[in-house]
This record gives sequence, structure tokens and C-alpha cells, in this order.
Amino acid sequence: MIITIANQKGGVGKTTTVVNLATALASIDKKVLVIDMDPQYNSSMSFNAYNTNRSIYKVFSNDTDINNAIQKSQIPKLDVISACEDLAAAEYELADDNNRNYLLKKFISNINNIYDYIFIDTPPTLGLLTVSSLTASDEVLIPVQCEFFALEGLSKLIKTIELVKNNLNINLKLNGIILTMYDKRNSLSSLIEKEAREYFDTNVYKFNVPRNVTLSEAPSHGLPAIIYDLKCSGSQAYIALAKEFLERSNTNGGK
Ligand SMILES: Nc1ncnc2c1ncn2[C@@H]1O[C@H](COP(=O)(O)OP(=O)(O)O)[C@@H](O)[C@H]1O
Ligand SMILES: [Mg+2]
Repeated sequence: MIITIANQKGGVGKTTTVVNLATALASIDKKVLVIDMDPQYNSSMSFNAYNTNRSIYKVFSNDTDINNAIQKSQIPKLDVISACEDLAAAEYELADDNNRNYLLKKFISNINNIYDYIFIDTPPTLGLLTVSSLTASDEVLIPVQCEFFALEGLSKLIKTIELVKNNLNINLKLNGIILTMYDKRNSLSSLIEKEAREYFDTNVYKFNVPRNVTLSEAPSHGLPAIIYDLKCSGSQAYIALAKEFLERSNTNGGK
């Protein structure tokens, strides 16, 4: 099953969610691949797997086969395809290619059967990189930061998902919305949660991710928080979310 993590807002927890959810699933013996489609390559760095020579950009520019771009991470069962800065140029370089939205889907079709789950991390834009990730995916997962204006951009994102669904990928489903950086001492967090649950109902994951400093420190050690400090509240939250993720992907008839 292929899952894109998307939100055109930056800093909402997309990368943290990809990295820790993928690690949690690999740790229960699922075979997982993370594809970093963000030219800022944060998830590649979080796995200590940043590599410009074997990046997804090299696959797009036909300089390497996708099988050669797959790198092992330090975590058993978890592989990574790195992003690199050049990926930002793909948007312009592929502008004349009528198949540009389907390219990632085509590349992934060569490796899809190796993995139980493929997670695609995306940049904070709704351009080609995000649209082609959505086109290649079975489901989309949306992290939402518990802060003012958090829900404002969501309608645009949902509209984009609908457009992709209607024009490029009829099978695309919403996996769910994860509320991140939840601060229980801050009444704004509970207000955002209330609004999100009222509006998006059961699409919102039952568990929230708390604001937890270990989640933000772990990447500087090149390790997912779940490996760096399993006991911290952030790691525990992502473990609970991974269980819920499995339930949801089963309910959605996950492949
Ligand atoms: N639950 C959290 N608690 C504290 N810091 C977090 C949490 N989730 C993410 N962060 C930090 O916030 C910043 C943005 O998160 P990130 O996952 O990179 O977002 P995005 O990929 O959407 O830009 C990063 O520095 C990250 O380490
Ligand atoms: Mg990111």
C-alpha cells in the first residue's frame, strides 16, 4: 500500500510523522519504504540516508534505475529513497512532459510488490511533486498542527485531493488526519481538536501527537525518535498511531 503524507503548510509534522510511523511499522516486521519527495530532504537526513547520487531526482532524470536508488537504513526492514535539492527543478524540467504526473507511479510500480507500505514525504507545496505523489498513492494522510489557522489551508488541500481523484487517480482515499504538536496546557490545542473532530469526524485519528522536544531532537542524531528514545511521549504516540493506522488501512481494504 502506498501512502502520501501531505499538507502544503510547512512545519506541521509531515516528516516527523513519515519517519516515526514508518519506523514503528518496520519494528513490527512490516517491510517499509520511505520515498522523500521534498527537495529539503529532511526525512532522508532523519534516516541518515541523504544521497544525491542515488536520489529520486536521479530516477526522474533517468540517470539511475529506481532499484538502485533504494538504500537500506539502520533500521531492519526499512529502506529509503533520498531526495536532493535538484528535485525542486523537476517541476520546470518536466513541464512539457504530458506524463509528468504519472512518472512516480510508473517508477513505483517496479518495486511496489517488495513492500507492505510505501510512505511518500512531500514538500510544503501543491505542485508537481505533491500531485505526482498523490497520483501514485492508494491513500493520503494529513498531519495538522494544533495552532491557529491550522484548518484554513485544509479546504484547499482537500480540494486538491478531490481534483487528483477526479482527474488522475480515481482510487485515492483519505486515510485520515493526525493532529500534531498537541499541547494539553494550551487551550488553543483543545479548541483546534474540537473543531477538527466536529468537521472531519472519524477521519481524525483518535490519538494526537503531543508537543514533545525529543521528537525534534532525534533527527539531529540521524535517528527516528522511536529508536532514539522509545519511552518519550512522542514515540509512544507514534506507536499508538501506527496501530490505528493498521486498523484504518484494513478498514479501507488496504492492499
Ligand atoms: N510533536 C512534535 N513536538 C515537537 N516538535 C515537533 C513535533 N513534530 C514535529 N516537530 C518539529 O517541528 C518541526 C517541523 O516538523 P516537520 O515534521 O519537519 O514538519 P513538516 O515536514 O511538515 O515541515 C521540526 O523541527 C520537527 O522536529
Ligand atoms: Mg518535511
